[in-house]
Amino acid sequence: MSLFQHLFAAAYDPVMSSLERGRLGEKRRELLADLSGEVLDVGAGTGANLAHLPSTVRRVIAVESDPAMARRLQQRALDHPADIEVVGAAAEALPLPDRCVDVVVTTLVLCTVQDPQAAVSELHRVLRPGGRLVVIEHVVDPAPRRARRQERLTPAWRVVARGCHLDRDTLTTLARGGFDVSGVGSWELSRRGPTVPAITGVARPR
Ligand SMILES: C[S@@+](CC[C@H](N)C(=O)[O-])C[C@H]1O[C@@H](n2cnc3c(N)ncnc32)[C@H](O)[C@@H]1O
Repeated sequence: MSLFQHLFAAAYDPVMSSLERGRLGEKRRELLADLSGEVLDVGAGTGANLAHLPSTVRRVIAVESDPAMARRLQQRALDHPADIEVVGAAAEALPLPDRCVDVVVTTLVLCTVQDPQAAVSELHRVLRPGGRLVVIEHVVDPAPRRARRQERLTPAWRVVARGCHLDRDTLTTLARGGFDVSGVGSWELSRRGPTVPAITGVARPR
């Protein structure tokens, strides 16, 4: 593991803390409050979603590809009442059978995975029929001038934010991957900066 990996993992919660206390934390609460059954949290990071899961969630599979993030996730999982399994794997190749979970959660992850279309196809594969995909993702700006700015910024942003892209059209990726996205709408993740445009809501496998 590189020093930068350690530093990024250590800095993640402090850097996100004001958003977590504000609009991001509220959005997590709103979208996760009524989940039940078996939940896959993909790209679970340090486990920010765990605190918002209700007691009706029986089991959580928390998939995380970065060992430094996974270590922190594991620590957080220890204090959680639900049965949590931390799995070191990539979203693009989930080591899970077809149709094995009731809910998939993707929060601030599809901006970073190497192959978003392959990842979405995996999320679709592991969801049971009637299941739901809970989404909070920052995306490309619908305004062309601001989208071009995001595109120009992305190479540098990817370096400091460990692979995060500012310019992904994640709603289209979800729709192409077999999801009904009529329950996913526009949102603003932050008040200013290149990660303002975002999408949130619930997508359903078609
Ligand atoms: C910005 S963090 C978001 C973490 C968490 N979901 C949250 O809402 O705070 C993105 C996470 O996705 C993980 N990640 C990136 N690419 C991945 C992949 N291909 N498969 C699984 N996890 C991935 C990163 O290691 C990182 O922990």
